[in-house]
Amino acid sequence: MSEIIAENNIVLEAKSLTRRFGGLVAVNNVSFAVQKHEIFGLIGPNGAGKTTLFNLITALIPPSEGKLIYKGTDISQLRPYKIAGLGIARTFQNIRLFGELSALENVIIGGHLHTKSNMIRGVLRLPPAPHEESKSRKKALELLELVGLSDRAEEKAKNFAYGDQRRLEIARALALEPQILLLDEPAAGMNPSEKQYLSEFIHSLRERFNLTIVLIEHHVPLVMGLCDRIAVLDFGQLIALGEPAVVRDDPAVIAAYLGSG
Ligand SMILES: Nc1ncnc2c1ncn2[C@@H]1O[C@H](COP(=O)(O)OP(=O)(O)O)[C@@H](O)[C@H]1O
Ligand SMILES: [Mg+2]
Repeated sequence: MSEIIAENNIVLEAKSLTRRFGGLVAVNNVSFAVQKHEIFGLIGPNGAGKTTLFNLITALIPPSEGKLIYKGTDISQLRPYKIAGLGIARTFQNIRLFGELSALENVIIGGHLHTKSNMIRGVLRLPPAPHEESKSRKKALELLELVGLSDRAEEKAKNFAYGDQRRLEIARALALEPQILLLDEPAAGMNPSEKQYLSEFIHSLRERFNLTIVLIEHHVPLVMGLCDRIAVLDFGQLIALGEPAVVRDDPAVIAAYLGSG
């Protein structure tokens, strides 16, 4: 992939994005642009501000300063369900499934998050409107099949092992039919062979759904092998951005990682 960014190919852009928590600047004047169909890695030591950046993009928290632009439109002030409706879906570092609901129900609800009434139905654990039910159920089963969990569709989410819950979260996010998929540490808690499989799986998702993917990940080989470009955060600041091989050898990046132990 070329380092030159075509202006008309940008789907998501952060412009001088800042988020403060009291005196702490969790995200500090960060700017970057993600291109369509890119797998964009976001790395950095613990506490660097990666998850906060996802929380800003998905409008769980507002920016203190700066803007988020999605396909040319300022989305900085939108509500989370609007962001979801525009096609930006995510998974969570701290898994957020409805533990008492089945895997299938979790995925079905994921698909309904982009309309406000359906979101409320979901939160209240009401079934979807009847005309939508068979369609969304069929789609949810297909997504469970895709992540390898279709034989456990009726099991409660809380009974799934950690790695399986992460895959279930991906299925739930995909139910939204997103254009951008944000994955917050999807390989956390997985063993090496699961990580390798996940890497290939994420790559295949991009092709299958024509996705743009932003990936937060600690496992460096996974990030290096999978991402087209990588942004490195350290203490809230963007300290490097570029192709994996360049970022890996960047003295500022090496110092940030060594400094954090
Ligand atoms: N809601 C919050 N309130 C106060 N501080 C927060 C909040 N969310 C994150 N932080 C702080 O912001 C910094 C960045 O956190 P986070 O974005 O979770 O880092 P990362 O995902 O890179 O490990 C940390 O110091 C964290 O304690
Ligand atoms: Mg995090």
